[in-house]
Order: sequence, then structure tokens, then C-alpha cells
Amino acid sequence: MWFSVFVAVAVGLSGARAAAVCPCAREELCQPVQHEHELEVFVFDVGGKTWKSYDWSKVTTVAAFGKYDAELMCYAHSKGARYVLKGDVSLSDIVDNAKRAAWIKEKVSLAKNQFMDGINLDIEQAVEQSSPEYYALTSLVKETTDMFHQEIPGSQVSFDVAWSPKCIDKRCYDYNAIANSCDLLFVMSYDEQSQIWGDCIAMANSPFNQTLTAYDEYIGMKIDPKKLVMGVPWYGYDYTCLNLSQEGVCTIPKVPFRGAPCSDASGKQIPYRTMMKQVNSSTSGRLWDEIQKAPYYNYKDKVGKLHQVWYDDPESISLKAAYVAKQGLRGIGMWNGNLLDYSNDPVAKQQSADMWNALIPNQPMSVMVS
Ligand SMILES: *[C@@H]1O[C@H](CO)[C@@H](O)[C@H](O)[C@H]1NC(C)=O
Ligand SMILES: *[C@@H]1O[C@H](CO)[C@@H](O)[C@H](O)[C@H]1NC(C)=O
Ligand SMILES: *[C@@H]1O[C@H](CO)[C@@H](O)[C@H](O)[C@H]1NC(C)=O
Repeated sequence: MWFSVFVAVAVGLSGARAAAVCPCAREELCQPVQHEHELEVFVFDVGGKTWKSYDWSKVTTVAAFGKYDAELMCYAHSKGARYVLKGDVSLSDIVDNAKRAAWIKEKVSLAKNQFMDGINLDIEQAVEQSSPEYYALTSLVKETTDMFHQEIPGSQVSFDVAWSPKCIDKRCYDYNAIANSCDLLFVMSYDEQSQIWGDCIAMANSPFNQTLTAYDEYIGMKIDPKKLVMGVPWYGYDYTCLNLSQEGVCTIPKVPFRGAPCSDASGKQIPYRTMMKQVNSSTSGRLWDEIQKAPYYNYKDKVGKLHQVWYDDPESISLKAAYVAKQGLRGIGMWNGNLLDYSNDPVAKQQSADMWNALIPNQPMSVMVS
């Protein structure tokens, strides 16, 4: 099997036309996944083998943000799930039509040689409205989608967008044209404090109202809800407080980001599994913010500094996930699938199962009528 993988990669790099050797136990598992799922559950995977513990009764797409894993490709296909490439390119490079075409050709050929089912475009660069990059980005999405659909039947091209279409982090893209040009937008409903314009304090990573209001904005721009996948965070932010007031307000250092005076960049991103190990022994225990509808806790570190940690858990996620069904969005997903505790510890096992289950709070109709 390892030999086969080597051959596949070598063929991809040389651009040769020879067909790659299927690394799966059964040849048909190398066929691209063609059918549509009623609800997308889109999982970013950053590598390693914890994918073996995913809830595969839910997963429909895995985006390979770690190293290509032939075993994962075969397994995903055996479950009817797509396994897609990561696509990132410097926008200044793809303003040139020929370079853009070459980039797309290379990605399609890589996907084919690795028996993959599409690509996730993760281009989070700042773009000014009506700049050459603005138009080049829209063309990139359209041309990538056309080429993938033509070369890999049933393939999926997705594009990652910020939590709101309002030029967040100076990403002023042509959201409407981009949505029309690809199969789905993965809306990153997190890092929502990347630009804090008001009080420089610790707040929720993915506050309820702000998150859902932004979907209303995408839909208000005439983007079809069926193109939108809600992305939720399986990580939180650990802030070191300059001051933690009696009311529990944690003032944070001013770290500017893309024009804003203050940002979540002063905090540190931490996995759900880490917070679950820490919350019970924290000074506050799990607290709940009724306005942001998010959990948080306070703790004191080894050198006596106070911290405030904001995160998402099954309660906050299921509140947002209810909107997916209500508005008829295409699906839901997370950054990222590897952040849970997949050990055999019974408490961890339950917590991880609860996180997967929170993605789909209501049982689908088919289960209810059967
Ligand atoms: C959500 O926020 C908007 C303004 O940002 C406000 O008008 C609205 O009342 C809020 N909705 C809820 C349910 O809190
Ligand atoms: C911390 O906040 C309290 C009020 O909650 C204020 O009296 C105090 O001056 C603040 N300390 C610092 C170092 O900002
Ligand atoms: C933390 O406390 C909760 C609620 O009391 C409990 O369900 C959970 O098992 C505890 N977590 C750990 C790691 O002990």
C-alpha cells in the first residue's frame, strides 16, 4: 500500500498521464463520490489518525488540511463521504490568467491522482473591493469549479468565508458571485472577535446573535441558503486578563488586527479537549453568558495571572445548529474534527459523542417516520 501511495504522489508531481494505482482494498473505493447528501457535515481534518474516532454516521465531507492520507480516502469513500484537497494560493499570483489556469490544472491533477472528490478553497487574504485581486478571486472560484466538475464527476468545490460578508478582516470579496460559482460556502462562524472596535475585553468566539444575524445578511444578499454550511468552532480562546473585574469582565491587552485596535489575537486558541480537562478545576467552574449564549470560565495560572476562557460546547452549538434546520442551510461543519478527546476515558468519550450529536440537534424526518 505504501508503494502505491508513493506512485500516486510521484505521478501527480511529474504531471504524467499514467493512471495512479488505487491504494484501497477494493478498486471501487477509488471512484469519486457522486451522490449528494441531504445535509452536509463538513469536517476539517488536520492530520493524524483521530479520524478513526469520528462519528462516521454523520460525516459527509473531509477536507484534508493535514498530509494526504490514502487510508482516510479509502475509508471516507467506504462511508460515502467526500475527501477533498485544500486549496490556498497567493492572490497576487493568480491575477495573471495563465498562472491561474496552471494552478487549477495542477490541483485537478493532484486530486485525480489521489482519488479525491474536490477542493476546499481557503483563501483568507485581505482584498479591496473592485481591485484586480477581487476579480481574479471570483474567476479563480469559477474556473476551479468548472474544471473540477468536468474532470472529476460529482466533485465538490467549496470556498471558506468569514463569519459575516461585511468586509471582515478586510476580506471584501464578491460573495454573491463566489457563491454562485461554487458548490458551497463554508461560513467560518468563529474568530468573531478578530476585530474588536469597542471595549477591549474577552468575549465569545462565536456569539449567538452576531453569528445568526450574519447568516441573515448572507441570505439577504440573495445567496441561496442551500449554498451555506455553518462552521462552528471546536476550540476556544484563553485570554490572560489585565484585570478581571468583580462583575467578571476580563480586560485584555490591545493587539491590533487589520485596522481594529483590539483583537482575539491577544488570546490563545485551545482545543475543546483541553478545556474539558481544565473547567472543573477552574476558579469559577463553567459559567454561562446569557447574552452571548456561550460558556466560559476563569482560572489562575502557575504564576498567579487570571485567565478567562471562552468556548463552545454542546449547549451553545446546538442553539446555533437549530438555525441550520430552521433556515434550510446546506449543512454544518467544524474547525476542526481532531480537537476532541478521542481517548477511551468514559467521560471524554461521552463529551465527544455529545459534541458530534450537537451538530444535528433534531433527528431527521426519515428517522421519525420509520
Ligand atoms: C440581535 O442583535 C441585533 C443587533 O445587533 C438586535 O437588534 C436584536 O434585537 C438581537 N436579537 C436578539 C434575539 O437578541
Ligand atoms: C481593575 O478593575 C477595577 C474595577 O473593576 C478597577 O478599580 C481597577 O483600577 C482595575 N485595575 C487595573 C489594573 O486596571
Ligand atoms: C466535570 O463536571 C461535570 C459536571 O459536574 C461532569 O459531568 C464531568 O464528568 C466532569 N469532568 C471531568 C473530567 O471529571
